[in-house]
Amino acid sequence: MRKGIILAGGTGSRLFPITQVVSKQLLPVYDKPMIYYPLSTLMQAGITEILLICTPVDKPLFETLLKDGNQWGISLHYAEQAKPNGLAEALIIAEPFLNGEACALILGDNLFYGDALSTLLVDISSNSQGASVFGYHVANPTDYGVVSFDQFGKAVSIEEKPEQPESQYAMPGLYFFDSRAPHFARQVKPSARNELEIVDVINDYLIAGELSVKILGRGTAWLDTGTPDALSEATQFIAAIEKRQGLKVNCPEEVAYRLGLIDAVQLKTLAQPLLKSGYGEYLLRLLDDSNNRVGPASW
Ligand code: TTP
Repeated sequence: MRKGIILAGGTGSRLFPITQVVSKQLLPVYDKPMIYYPLSTLMQAGITEILLICTPVDKPLFETLLKDGNQWGISLHYAEQAKPNGLAEALIIAEPFLNGEACALILGDNLFYGDALSTLLVDISSNSQGASVFGYHVANPTDYGVVSFDQFGKAVSIEEKPEQPESQYAMPGLYFFDSRAPHFARQVKPSARNELEIVDVINDYLIAGELSVKILGRGTAWLDTGTPDALSEATQFIAAIEKRQGLKVNCPEEVAYRLGLIDAVQLKTLAQPLLKSGYGEYLLRLLDDSNNRVGPASW
């Protein structure tokens, strides 16, 4: 059974002074902590056993917020990353947790939203062989890992933050790997910026002909929150969608309820302490509308 990893360490230096004493992933994106978004995304992929990796200082805070996951019908575990040594280190830290299983690794500051996204993620999570990553058209590819394609649309290279990008397709921070990923990660040497680069692991799969790159179309939103502008834009985006639809984006309680991981009684209990903010009322409204339970999900 595929397991999940959320990488929520890092320094957040592009957000200083905001993140000097608070983890970026605990900051709000509109009405909920940032970490709820990637967590909900993994849940929507059908993944219920998840390791959260964060700094030693932040660990008690994440544990207080998210507990053991049982309240949301999932199983949450925690591990420390002593220093931000790079994304590939997550796979090494997670190796005992994974215990030979395949995984999905998501970055704690990446937000995904889109129609039919959960169907796509469930499909990849269940059927992906080797490694699967995404390509997403962005205005600023030089800020990301960039995927380039040949004339047949086959991925031919992935480069981390290239000065001269070969394409405008950035690779979002959600990666599906088979059980060999920790092995590949252990072979990675620190890069010029002294990090273990996830791109090196992905390139191992590419060279072996075992990498699938799926394009996330323009109907899907992929946002990250690394700078004050990006964080503010993510908040505005989520606020606009939620106010328009009257549905929350990446609300883990709702995802758990819709997936049948928790029942109505449990949802009611979760709502009680959250009533003053309106969040709890939203959860209670899900109980009122029995059509919601079976209707098309718009996470
Ligand atoms: P980045 O945005 O690349 O790094 P950062 O969060 O430390 O921010 P800054 O560049 O402003 O200093 O990280 C992307 C995500 O990965 C983010 O959620 C933090 C996480 N991360 C780790 O958990 N460990 C790491 O070693 C690195 C590099 C990032």
